[in-house]
Amino acid sequence: MKIIEVSDYKQMSVKASQHVIANIRNSDCLTLGLATGGTPKGLYGELIEDHHVNGTSYKCVNTFNLDEYIGLSKEDSNSYYQYMCSNLFSHIDIPLSQTHIPSGMADDAAEECRRYENMIEEAGGIDLQILGIGENGHIGFNEPGTSFQSGTHIVELTESTREANARYFESLDEVPRQAITMGISSIMKSREILLLVSGKSKREAMQKLIENDVTENFPASILKKHPKVTIIADSAALA
Ligand code: PGA
Repeated sequence: MKIIEVSDYKQMSVKASQHVIANIRNSDCLTLGLATGGTPKGLYGELIEDHHVNGTSYKCVNTFNLDEYIGLSKEDSNSYYQYMCSNLFSHIDIPLSQTHIPSGMADDAAEECRRYENMIEEAGGIDLQILGIGENGHIGFNEPGTSFQSGTHIVELTESTREANARYFESLDEVPRQAITMGISSIMKSREILLLVSGKSKREAMQKLIENDVTENFPASILKKHPKVTIIADSAALA
């Protein structure tokens, strides 16, 4: 794992955007893995600005998001579909048909997981996966204890994850209890991974990631086994 230290959230976002833009420009048809949450918002803002100023085009980019809440429709303001539209897709020239997010409203969620995993494979896999990290070491919604062999699957969200995400909902009760997430093995198949980490709330997770052994009790630790991981972390997260 290569670690790049930057001063703050803005610099993390700028550095990450340069990396993503270089990949888009150097590839005929890049497949990007995308994340939601507070961490990548700044990156998406930088990509939008670059699209407007420098004309980087997404007409040949395909995207696969890590996860979606079960029970939230595409129209729900808290769905990750809405997050991606308002934070990125509506502001760049990517055809929506080239963007993929698991459906949280599928009649058969297990079948939706299989369909999603197959779609990633049929697209030739993910070239560059953007990741954040949870305070408990989760990546995507892969909570501690998730098998490293897991493909896209249904998860029961831990209370700590629901509490961390409650800030976006009216109350904790409204935070869904389940989600569909790419699994650890789906993430590890990506050819390259860019992990973004910012703020002192992630300091303990960063320390564990750097110092601890690889264990299913701390999902992000598996990244140590991936051949091409870059971590862009700010000083607060690395202190
Ligand atoms: P955050 O979430 O970016 O909102 O901190 C990261 C995560 O839980 O993976």
